[in-house]
Amino acid sequence: MVKLSLALILCSMALAMPAVYGIAEGPKEVEEWFQKLSHAKPKLTKLHFYFLQKLNGEKLTAVTVAKANMTDTSPTTFGVINVIDDPMTVEPHWTSKVVGRAQGLYAVASLEEVSLSCFINFVFTEGDYNGSSLTLMGQNPLRHPVREMSIIGGSGVFRMARGVATFATLFFDVPAKNATVDVNIVALHY
Ligand SMILES: *[C@@H]1O[C@H](CO)[C@@H](O)[C@H](O)[C@H]1NC(C)=O
Ligand SMILES: *[C@@H]1O[C@H](CO)[C@@H](O)[C@H](O)[C@H]1NC(C)=O
Ligand SMILES: *[C@@H]1O[C@H](CO)[C@@H](O)[C@H](O)[C@H]1NC(C)=O
Repeated sequence: MVKLSLALILCSMALAMPAVYGIAEGPKEVEEWFQKLSHAKPKLTKLHFYFLQKLNGEKLTAVTVAKANMTDTSPTTFGVINVIDDPMTVEPHWTSKVVGRAQGLYAVASLEEVSLSCFINFVFTEGDYNGSSLTLMGQNPLRHPVREMSIIGGSGVFRMARGVATFATLFFDVPAKNATVDVNIVALHY
């Protein structure tokens, strides 16, 4: 929460930015926002949170929607596609305050190692970011201690965002497929 608050302060310090209206904007307001963009300075926002995922047992946050015939015999589970709706939390545990939802999907897309092609929308539900989102795409080789992926866009506060997300797995319980992932994001937006 400390870093999230810091990011909020950085945000409010930026000058000459177009007003932020959240995601309930009509096409006219969006067009006006773009017209002011040439005077806007990019803002750097740093975010830190966790997301929690459970793919087995009760209270699932992830579900397998498709797999190939060869997935079950593949050493990397190549070809499986999972859809996720994982809580984004301030602390790395299930009773923590939730600040958003990590929603999207990933496919195991490597024959050589367990590596996910991820498409995730970080949808914020708290504070000044409520209703805004950041979109991530990238390759996530799970066994590496830190994985770097791209922030390719956003909505609301994060319109036109570009940035980098890094994931580190803090906890992974194999039978429950219950995972806690530490996420840091650095993004430029207007
Ligand atoms: C996949 O498996 C199913 C059921 O065994 C079979 O009917 C189907 O032809 C297989 N598809 C391919 C592409 O091998
Ligand atoms: C976030 O926004 C939604 C929709 O505008 C609203 O219903 C909700 O109360 C807000 N949540 C917080 C924590 O401000
Ligand atoms: C995930 O695993 C942790 C550690 O074993 C446990 O405390 C937590 O309750 C689990 N979460 C769920 C949703 O089962």
